[in-house]
Amino acid sequence: MTDVTKITVLGAGNIGGSLAQRLAEADVAREVVLIDIIDGLPQGKALDIQESAPILGFSTKVSGTTDLAAIRGSDIVVETAGIARKPGMSRSDLLGVNAKIVRGHAEAVRAQAPNAVVLVVSNPVDVMTHYFREVSGQPAERVFGESGTLDTARFRWFVAEALGVAPRDVTGFVLGTHGDTMVPILSLTSVSGVPLSQLLPADRLAAIVDRTKKGGAEIVNLLKSGSAFYAPSASQTELVAAVARNEHRLLPVTARLRGEFGQKDVTIGVPAILGRNGVERIVEVEITASERAAFADSVKAVRADLEVLAKLP
Ligand code: 2OP
Repeated sequence: MTDVTKITVLGAGNIGGSLAQRLAEADVAREVVLIDIIDGLPQGKALDIQESAPILGFSTKVSGTTDLAAIRGSDIVVETAGIARKPGMSRSDLLGVNAKIVRGHAEAVRAQAPNAVVLVVSNPVDVMTHYFREVSGQPAERVFGESGTLDTARFRWFVAEALGVAPRDVTGFVLGTHGDTMVPILSLTSVSGVPLSQLLPADRLAAIVDRTKKGGAEIVNLLKSGSAFYAPSASQTELVAAVARNEHRLLPVTARLRGEFGQKDVTIGVPAILGRNGVERIVEVEITASERAAFADSVKAVRADLEVLAKLP
């Protein structure tokens, strides 16, 4: 258990429900509150999770409600609300609908939980993280998004599978936007310190990079309705635990840039150190010239979405 009293998960869909379960089982807060607009859904999922406590041994109290005022006093808020992609859609296609939902929630944080650390996962996540902070008015370091941890997990798994090595021994970074222009950073990927270039030929690496970029769509196409939630909720739990336990983890997160990597006023996936107050520091790692160019393209894609957002009614 940590000093975190209350974590609120906004949205009790597949991601919100799975995340509430993982957070309860991780025992990182005294209380996990699940909020959704569909009456019965958050209450039902919360009770179901709570009833697993005697078997699993966690002491987290889990509750569900449709009352957004329950956000009051949260130490950590996770924004999962919004619609998911259908086959053939890009994450950017969700912008208009999800921005309205995110706006209402950011206003609630501003009014009722201004000191919370906020993790945004609603898509398109880079733009929604940026927008959440604009509306909530919180310091930039306290509002960050999930993208790289999920994309990196997919990348790590594909590498582990190709090499037949333990997944946890594969480390690396996928940076940039959580979209088609994401940038798997091969120059910073290794298996227990051994550079990937020594272990896999270039064509197999290129195929893994390509599969990683389409990793979310691969699941959407298989499920046919809804998008991934097991790996996303695992990645979100890693991020929330890093905050709750003040772990100072160096992870790829969606953060607002203020000059880092030569960019400002944009929110995108970069390596950052996460602790109890959110993003403690963005780490300007050295990447190759071609990775820098790909990152610049990724920034352009997010800026284009931010322009779309600015024109919404
Ligand atoms: C994904 O990549 C839902 O965007 C999320 O699966």
